[in-house]
Amino acid sequence: MNNNTQESKIQLEYINKCTELVKEKYKKAPAFFIQNAGCQMNSLQTDTVAGIVKRMGYTEVSREEDADVVIYNTCTVRENANLKIYGHLGHLKSIKKKNPELKIVLFGCMMQEPEVIEKIHKEYSFVDLVFGTHNFHKFPELFYRSLNTEGQIIDVWKESDEIVEGMPSDRKYSFKTGVNIMFGCNNFCSYCIVPYVRGREKSREPEAIIEEIKGLVADGVTEVMLLGQNVNSYGKTLEHPVTFAQLLKQVEAIEGLKRIRFMTSHPKDLSDELIRTMAESKKVCHHLHLPMQSGSSRILKIMNRRYDKEKYLELVAKIRNAVPDISLTTDIIVGFPGETEEDFQDTLDVVEKCDFDSAFTFIYSKRSGTPAAKMENQVPEDVVKDRFDRLLALVQEKGRKASSRFEGTVQEILVEEESREKGIFTGRTEYNLLVHFPGCQDLIGKYVKVKLDTCKGFYYFGSLAE
Ligand code: SAH
Ligand code: SF4
Ligand code: F3S
Repeated sequence: MNNNTQESKIQLEYINKCTELVKEKYKKAPAFFIQNAGCQMNSLQTDTVAGIVKRMGYTEVSREEDADVVIYNTCTVRENANLKIYGHLGHLKSIKKKNPELKIVLFGCMMQEPEVIEKIHKEYSFVDLVFGTHNFHKFPELFYRSLNTEGQIIDVWKESDEIVEGMPSDRKYSFKTGVNIMFGCNNFCSYCIVPYVRGREKSREPEAIIEEIKGLVADGVTEVMLLGQNVNSYGKTLEHPVTFAQLLKQVEAIEGLKRIRFMTSHPKDLSDELIRTMAESKKVCHHLHLPMQSGSSRILKIMNRRYDKEKYLELVAKIRNAVPDISLTTDIIVGFPGETEEDFQDTLDVVEKCDFDSAFTFIYSKRSGTPAAKMENQVPEDVVKDRFDRLLALVQEKGRKASSRFEGTVQEILVEEESREKGIFTGRTEYNLLVHFPGCQDLIGKYVKVKLDTCKGFYYFGSLAE
């Protein structure tokens, strides 16, 4: 593995070259529009690209119509995500007719699909620059080429074993941020396209992660979210293997850091060591996102999840025993090929037993190239829809009940922003529960105690307790 800082130097030079070019090209500061799709790892890369174009002299705008550059970071985990991008492109075509100088940039997971690239090349020739997940770090260089070219540039790599450190980024909040600890996925759940578009699992060196977080803390960050498709297998492929729990302890030792979160945990790799670390730590938040996907052992086997219903329930019991106040959330897929009513009842049963604080529910989406896409027994749409509605009703009812356990208590929250309603601010408890309360601007980025007065289902209305 090559943790290449030389490459980031080259790219920083390209940023400077672009800055000069932009100064020559535009009389006043040009504008960019950027949109993110997909998971938090994508969102972090969106922040990096936004940070880079800002350095080049662009200012951010909130409408495509006002932009000189429109950038979409794409996701392809479900078909819907792709359809949305094609919809946006239709809209952009008409904007570009009026403003032929407009640059359109697409990158991210969807661009790793050969059919997508073919379609963009043939039907969307007005898109200027396309790159993928493996050459993401080349963005400044590619953008420089695009600024100097009229035609379409498509540069998508099949694989890369490089992790490029030290790229500039622009975070949304000054006091909290995500930090990638690994890239890619080796699990090949049979429904999932991520391993195909993100490539093999690669962990960053712990030293690089710690150094980055120390830098962030020095710059005002007090909460980090460590990100990976399966953080529980962090470090296994490093030259000197490190477990995720060991990494957490190193992060915990960073002075000035107050809260540590992580995402996502695969149940098959969740170790006792990690549970113990969560229980003992003063900084790791008591919130665990533990995607179950299905409650049926039969379906879980075909999904290639490598745990069954009993193992999942045992794991939840073990976690609750060690960390009694834990907040648990999950992901569930409905309508996986061959799912019967009996299988679905198992899913409902697990939801009934686990008391999740919330659950993301998804209708199974067929992704080409995955083993599940070739399965013949796809479930009819009306059956899936009916199951989905029943699941959602149960998830919401249980979620409301679970969240209401905090009613009347005083909790510490990190204040994030003013809500749409003036004078009402929002923040999150360590359990990741959103709280709205009357406050003031000075509180943003601070930890304050609030009394959770009224549970509104998935959030609270509270009042300052100090
Ligand atoms: N690595 C994470 C999940 C990343 S994708 C994990 O394994 O937990 C986020 C969620 O999208 C998954 O948990 C799954 O519930 C959902 N998902 C993935 N592929 C899907 C598909 N083909 N159809 C519907 N939902 C899917
Ligand atoms: Fe997809 Fe499974 Fe990897 Fe998660 S663990 S990204 S669901 S293959
Ligand atoms: Fe989507 Fe890629 Fe994340 S497919 S969910 S953006 S890893």
